[in-house]
Amino acid sequence: REMFWAPNDGIFQPFDTEPDALKAKAKERLTEQGWLYAASNAGINWTHYANRTAFYRHRIIPRMLRDTNTRDTATTLFGHKVSAPIGFAPVGINRIYHPTGELSVAKVAQELNLPYCLSSAGSYSIEAVGEANKDGCRFFQLYQSPDDEQCLSMLERAVESGFTACILTTDTWQLAWRHHDVNIGNYAFYHEHGAGDIALNDPVFLKRLKEAGIDHEKDPKRAGQKWMDENIWHGHAHTWEKTKWLIKEWKRISGGKPFLLKGIQSVRDAKKAVEIGCDGIVVSNHAGRQVDGAIASLDALEKICDAVGDQIVITYDSGVRTASDIFKALALGARFVFVGRLWIYGLSIQGEIGVRHVMRALLAEFDILVNVSGYATLEEIDKEAIDSLPRVA
Ligand code: FNR
Repeated sequence: REMFWAPNDGIFQPFDTEPDALKAKAKERLTEQGWLYAASNAGINWTHYANRTAFYRHRIIPRMLRDTNTRDTATTLFGHKVSAPIGFAPVGINRIYHPTGELSVAKVAQELNLPYCLSSAGSYSIEAVGEANKDGCRFFQLYQSPDDEQCLSMLERAVESGFTACILTTDTWQLAWRHHDVNIGNYAFYHEHGAGDIALNDPVFLKRLKEAGIDHEKDPKRAGQKWMDENIWHGHAHTWEKTKWLIKEWKRISGGKPFLLKGIQSVRDAKKAVEIGCDGIVVSNHAGRQVDGAIASLDALEKICDAVGDQIVITYDSGVRTASDIFKALALGARFVFVGRLWIYGLSIQGEIGVRHVMRALLAEFDILVNVSGYATLEEIDKEAIDSLPRVA
């Protein structure tokens, strides 16, 4: 358990990981534009707050006089043995937060033996991130390009670099109206921090750049902009039919590795995911950054687990700030929980050391919470472990 505590190596400057303090510190460290990219939500933050308030509805029921001395928070996800049911959610353009960006995050994920997800809006190449995490458990998050050849090229590279699952994000073919971010002109800022750099060594993308007369060495920002505009936030909605094709292609390229849909918020879509042969889903509303006024992701989780929990691997993200949130999502039926903003804030505060500190603190908090609540195994954390209040707002 000592491994969860941050080392006193003389470089690390301890900072408070209490979520509000962490957020305030990150705000202090980032430029205004960096801060707005990290912290902004869609619309007027309703869904962001709905995500948080949904956690208040569920309360842990502590058990007493139970032997938790040999408790175990390790688990497996798609055959990978990992130290806890906690992973790094995919987040784009990590160089906004720190120059070492994705490389640091992937490295710390490996060190802590937690799953890492690389965003296809990343600011380092797939190969470089794969190398930083070479003995780790890593998944590739895809924003599906309307250009099929381009899409398959990214998946092939991901497989060659040892990424062992594809997570298709279904909720962001266009960025939502985020008053404090893109709508104040932050888009240009993204391109000063490596937006699109993930693709600057992709053979198909290089071909597309050539066709468009763009020299990525002379003008990387313009090249990056083409990547984001045409392959990430392209505005074209995809369909279930197209996703069936994508699953088939992914299975062919990867030799049958898992395929997940991220952004699922309804029982209807969860059932569809089962029907078309997905191995898992991430119940997520993109941290409230896409559809403002939408259902809290935790409320969606509860319904989805009840409907298809025995047919597909259900994972969760959106609004997780503390170990008890993780406990509650597991109790409602999630197999695994991903976090985004917590590690983004750590990265912003102190790069690699900051990510390590935040995630170690979260692991320690989770281990201690499980202990003092009287639960010795993750299997014991079920619906009976929480008291759920009626939904009032
Ligand atoms: C995201 N998220 C995200 N998701 C994704 O599939 N691809 C991406 O590139 C990004 N980029 C991204 C940037 C930033 C700044 C944020 C805050 C989020 C969503 C992410 O994967 C995850 O769904 C949420 O961040 C989880 O909620 P919390 O933990 O941040 O509350």
